[in-house]
Order: sequence, then C-alpha cells, then structure tokens
Amino acid sequence: MVGPDRDVTGEEHVNSLESEAHRLDAADPGRRHLFHVPPAEGGRYPEVAYLAGNSLGLQPRATRDELLADLAAWSRLGVEGHLEAERPWLPYHELLTAPAARLVGARPAETVVMNSLTVNLHLLMVSFYRPAGARTRIVIEDSAFPSDSYAVRSQARFHGLDPDTTVVRLTPRAGEDTLRTEDVTDFLAAEGDTVALVLLGGVNYLTGELMDIPAITAAGRAAGAVVGWDLAHAVGNVPLALHDWDVDFAAWCSYKYLNSGPGALAGVFVHERHLGDPGLPRFEGWWSTAAATRFEMTPVSRPPATVEAWQISNPPIFAMGPVRTSLELFDAVGMPALRERSLRLTGYLERLLDEVTADRPLAVITPRDPERRGCQLSVRIGVGSANELTKRLRHEHGVIADAREPDVVRFAPVPLYSTYHDCWRVADALAATVEKH
Ligand SMILES: Cc1ncc(COP(=O)(O)O)c(C=O)c1O
Repeated sequence: MVGPDRDVTGEEHVNSLESEAHRLDAADPGRRHLFHVPPAEGGRYPEVAYLAGNSLGLQPRATRDELLADLAAWSRLGVEGHLEAERPWLPYHELLTAPAARLVGARPAETVVMNSLTVNLHLLMVSFYRPAGARTRIVIEDSAFPSDSYAVRSQARFHGLDPDTTVVRLTPRAGEDTLRTEDVTDFLAAEGDTVALVLLGGVNYLTGELMDIPAITAAGRAAGAVVGWDLAHAVGNVPLALHDWDVDFAAWCSYKYLNSGPGALAGVFVHERHLGDPGLPRFEGWWSTAAATRFEMTPVSRPPATVEAWQISNPPIFAMGPVRTSLELFDAVGMPALRERSLRLTGYLERLLDEVTADRPLAVITPRDPERRGCQLSVRIGVGSANELTKRLRHEHGVIADAREPDVVRFAPVPLYSTYHDCWRVADALAATVEKH
C-alpha cells in the first residue's frame, strides 16, 4: 500500500504520499545523476518531472564529451581520422553492433545501426515486402504510428497496388482500447494466405500495449507471411529476444528510450536465416560491400553475409557517438535490472493514477497486466484537450508529459532516470488540474 491506512485529512494524505515517494527513491534509486534533467518553468521543484522519455529521452551527461572528442579528432587529423582517430571512423559502426545486438536479443551479424527508423523500414520492405499472386496484403494495427501507415501505403503504391485494399488495419474489439493477441492471430489463421507482410509496433505508441511478439511472429510465419516489427517504443523499454523469437526483421529509433538525441541514428535487425541470401532484393551503396572490398573500387559489390549488406552510405560519425554512449549505459545496467525497476516504477504510478482517476474524467487505457506493457501509461481524458492538459501540467507543475490529440496523455516513467517522486508529481498535478466529476 502506498497510501496511509487511517482517516486523514486530504493534505496529510498528500504529504504522506510524497514522503512515501521519497522513501521509495532512497530504497530504489535509478541513474538520474548520469543525465541532464531540464529545469522546471513552473511548479514547486527546480527540475521538471520528465515523463516524456517515450518521445525523446534525456541527454546523458557523457554525450557532450563523446561528441567533443569526435570533433577534436577531426580537427587534429582531418581525413586521417578514418584510420587514426582514437575510434577510427572507417569501422566506427562496428562498435555499436554488439551492444545493440545485446539489447534486442540478436546475434551481432543480425544487427546494425544506420539511418533513421522509417528509412530503414523502407529499406527492409524493399527486401521483405514482395507481393505476389494473391499474397499482397500488409497487416498493421489501426493505431499504428502514422508514419508506419504512410510507409506501408507508399510501399503498396510503389508495387502498383491500391493502398486502401492492400493495407489491412486491425482494430480492437468494440469497447476495448487495445488489440488482444487472438485478434491478430485469428485474423492470420483465417486470412493469412493473402498476407505478404505483418508489420506491427512492438509496444504501441498510443496505448503503451506490449504485443506478444513471439506469438504473433509465429502465427504470421505459419501463415506464410513475413513478420517485421517497429520497435521504436520497445527497444530499451522491454526485454527483447528477436533471434529466438524468429522475427524476420525489425527496426527501431534511438531517440526515445535509448537517449541518443533528436533524430538519432536507428537500428536494424535481420534474422540470420535471411543473411547472405542472394535472392533477396536490396538497395546498395558503398557500405553494402564487405569492408575488405570497400577500397577495391570495383563496379560490382561483394556484400557480406551479415545485415551490414543493408547499409548504403558511410555513416555520420558525429551521430554515432551519442548512440555509443547510450548503449554503454544499457550494457552497464543491463536490461533485466532495468525491467525490474521499470515494473516497480510503473506499478507505483499506476496505483497513484488509480486514486486520481477514480473520481475524475480520466481513464488509464494501457493494459493492466505488467507483462503486456512497458513503462508507459496512457491516460484518456474525458473532458478538454490533451494538448491543453499537458501545457497546464508543464507550466503550472513542471510535469513534462506528452499529448496525443484529441484525448490521450502519455506518461512514461523511464527506469534509467525517472523517480518515484516524479510519479507522485504526476498524480499530484493531475489531481490539482483536472476537476472531479
Ligand atoms: C512507433 C513509431 N514509428 C515510427 C516513428 C517515426 O520515426 P522516424 O521519423 O524517426 O523515422 C515514430 C516516431 O516517434 C514512432 O513512434
């Protein structure tokens, strides 16, 4: 129990809850000291309560030095930095491979950091969306992130297909906010022979629902489809085992839970069984050819039998440093420990939200089962606009959450840097901002 168990005044209750939050923070600290937490513009506390790491993660303190070191190498060495920088630029991307693979449960040959998320999804669909005969459809969730919807619709058009009939959007049952696993697997069992590609979000951006990735992957593959995952909201948030789950391909960004900065470089996974397959179409460039052949300057590439064959251009070194810094942090803490703290922190926020939402026009729409969600809790507001509410939370209480119009506000206590006190501030701010029924 977080709250007191005797009759108390409202103010005593609030004070006791705040002390409880401080006690929990002392007992279960995160790594907040490794991050820059923005100053608050409103409210009683000097720093914001930052619950928007599902949108953009905070800056690790180590990132600036990493960037400065890369700049210094360039000023000192010019072109020789390709080979002589402390971390030579030519093979720089290889430094990111093993830690990225650990994070998503992949083998190093299956993982590479490159480009940005939607670019990578397109490059992967060049290989893995190959409509043929009656098998042309792409399955997404109706609440897919809009850019995924744009991407698959444009892929359908690219193949001369009508996006309105090619893209199937799965919707939750009437009166439900999230998809059940059977909603997806039953559809695949019934109509899977028309499906070329299943492309879903591992954690849904809007509801925070964690999909059953292994079950859906198995159902899609059993139906003869290729199964890919957009892991933007899953990577660094929940444990992943992409290799063992037999996922065909996946892509993710690094600016949310991976704290690598706005527009940061993204990651890609291609399952081992597809590596080195000469029958797979791929777009190629300089970095698609095996490293040993890169300077032979021949007209025909010789791609390696690894996911690096999907690389195209030489990578932006200044964008790689922040990803490296971040992945080192994940390696140091470890995803299992992060997930444990995440379950405690999000469970705590859920209990506080239950108190606040009980008599207000607010409802948590994220699944209640901790195994079916990451750290994010999404709240549907019954009155007013989500944008207006998040503005008031920020300016009046220093609480940074994120609005998805018209009526969803998302709160993500991130286990690396969020605190129990941040969670308490969310509940306190909502109680002060949203009128009771
Ligand atoms: C689930 C999901 N997919 C795709 C994107 C878009 O990614 P990008 O613009 O980096 O390609 C986002 C951005 O927030 C996202 O949340």
